[in-house]
Amino acid sequence: LKAKMTIDKDYKIGQIDNRIYGSFIEHLGRAVYDGIYEPGHSAADEQGFRKDVIEMVKELKVPLVRYPGGNFVSGYNWEDGVGPVNDRPKRLDLAWKTTETNEIGTNEFVDWTNKVNAEVNMAVNLGTRGIDAARNLVEYCNHTSGSYYSDLRISHGYKEPHKIKTWCLGNEMDGPWQIGHKTAIEYGRIATEAAKVMKWVDPTIELVACGSSNRNMPTFPEWEATVLDHTYDHVDYISLHQYYGNHDNDLGNYLAQSMGMDDFIRTIISTADYIKAKKRSKKTINLSFDEWNVWYHSREADKQMEPWTVAPPLLEDIYNFEDALLVGSMLITMLKHADRVKIACLAQLVNVIAPIMTDKNGEAWKQTIYYPYMHASVYGRGTALNVLTSSPKYDSKDFTDVPYLDSTAVYDEENETLTIFGVNRHQTDSLLLDCDIRSFEGYRVVEHIILENDDMKATNKQIRNNVIPHNNGTAEVKDGTLVAKLPKLSWNVIRLI
Ligand code: AHR
Repeated sequence: LKAKMTIDKDYKIGQIDNRIYGSFIEHLGRAVYDGIYEPGHSAADEQGFRKDVIEMVKELKVPLVRYPGGNFVSGYNWEDGVGPVNDRPKRLDLAWKTTETNEIGTNEFVDWTNKVNAEVNMAVNLGTRGIDAARNLVEYCNHTSGSYYSDLRISHGYKEPHKIKTWCLGNEMDGPWQIGHKTAIEYGRIATEAAKVMKWVDPTIELVACGSSNRNMPTFPEWEATVLDHTYDHVDYISLHQYYGNHDNDLGNYLAQSMGMDDFIRTIISTADYIKAKKRSKKTINLSFDEWNVWYHSREADKQMEPWTVAPPLLEDIYNFEDALLVGSMLITMLKHADRVKIACLAQLVNVIAPIMTDKNGEAWKQTIYYPYMHASVYGRGTALNVLTSSPKYDSKDFTDVPYLDSTAVYDEENETLTIFGVNRHQTDSLLLDCDIRSFEGYRVVEHIILENDDMKATNKQIRNNVIPHNNGTAEVKDGTLVAKLPKLSWNVIRLI
């Protein structure tokens, strides 16, 4: 089976915003407690943060971490999580029916993000609370000194402001499951008023308005149109959320789900630009895909969970090899829209639908999806290129004309490297790729990394490092043409310098 690509350094989509390799830590399950934070653990640092987890997060080069939710944020009082730990209240978290101890809050989380070299993407509560709590939190985090909340932060031991740049105006406010769920008009109004005053406190911040919780919501995409009609002048991004699962065990259809993601992105771009036209605005609203992943393995188990415990093992999806292929395709899809998708958060980062898992008092380990995420984050920086691709196609239950080859390329002009990411969706055959790279004169292949496995359901849980990449791919350059064999059902990273 043959596929062709043409890659030219002048065919540019746009500069990749590194924040598309962001992730997410919610006060949910074992993400915070017994995840990033386990004070009794032998790898814990002086603050109780696990150093082994910090190392893995650093290896992923995660630039931005969304916090503290998620559904959790819609019932959260940020004041509960600051000040002396012993004085912090225990609360019922109604979103996940657990008990929140508030041992970790804003300041500790900022400390943790400093340790992993990431920025915080802070969400405010627009469910049970509103503009007052939101502006106070901006003041607490970002104002230098001389006001009630900035001085309160200083009294808590944080003299320097946290300078948090990116803020989410609530979470999934279109969903009936959300605490304080709203209609698009109700949300549009409160988001506008919160945005206004948050920017009055700190005009340097950027704001994300809530889009639909997924593409199947009954209010999609009217929700986005209405919300942006209200918020357009006050926000910078509109959010997208989407999770997939192989519910019918239909591999061809499962691996094609990223086409749905592509369609979702295109629709939101069109909707945002429609409101731009309606308002005769010069401003462009970009996209923040701030929750994306595979999530379905743990849903049944979670229904049996005992309520009101502390840090129960919720949403602990164990990812298999086929999930890693879809995650690879989702990353490729976002790179293809690098001109408009400026922020994205793999949901989530540790234990909860996560690339990194921890055993209590035990080791931290990498799930299958860790690898495509790491490859994209580490090698996918620079300029996204508009690649011409021709590939044989197939039809699946929900999609037609699904290309077997899903691929894109990134040109790092500074370091003069070219990286091709590609998924072969074919279930029995290798793809023989011919790629015209004449504009990259003198470039040669330094590495062809492949993630492949004969067992689509293989995981890293029982046998650690069962699904890991190798770099024995055979890609090479011959007379301005890159030739490569992409094995059946594989994730490929071809690096050239
Ligand atoms: O990431 C898990 C949950 O998924 C989040 O809390 C919520 O925003 C979404 O429904």
